[in-house]
Amino acid sequence: MRILVLNGPNLQLLGRREPNVYGRATLEDIRRMLEARARELGVSLAFVQSNCEGELVTAIGASADRYDGLILNPAAYTHTSVALHDAIRAAGVPCVEVHLSNPAAREPFRHRSLTAAACIGTVAGFGPDSYRLALDGLVARLRPAGRPARRRRPRG
Ligand code: DQA
Repeated sequence: MRILVLNGPNLQLLGRREPNVYGRATLEDIRRMLEARARELGVSLAFVQSNCEGELVTAIGASADRYDGLILNPAAYTHTSVALHDAIRAAGVPCVEVHLSNPAAREPFRHRSLTAAACIGTVAGFGPDSYRLALDGLVARLRPAGRPARRRRPRG
């Protein structure tokens, strides 16, 4: 199982960007923590960070044949991007939206997510753990525990 983790604008600055809001962990710290969890789960991860909406749209568009699931922190594009919403829907790859902070408890302009409605779920407010919870939830959805083996068609 392959999962693409996408991070949007300004997230390359994590660690020194408003640490009172986003904490001290860097994007590299989050990547290492997620890789460790992915190894336990037996899934492989790829990472993309971009400050450009179009690059994120292109990466999501190219994900259909390559990945089983997406984890996306659209950052500020959460609140503005019809293009990202459409890209997630067009790719048809199950996507979990992630936020370090809890946008619902912040400024009113962060209360609306244009991307969430294209996702299977959202995890917000748990700092770096939001990514781990999203990975656990996504893998559970893609590979439900105890899923019965597919029934064979009776012969003849
Ligand atoms: C964020 C929340 C967004 O509102 C903000 O624009 C970000 C980060 C988060 O992870 O908490 O850049 O997505």
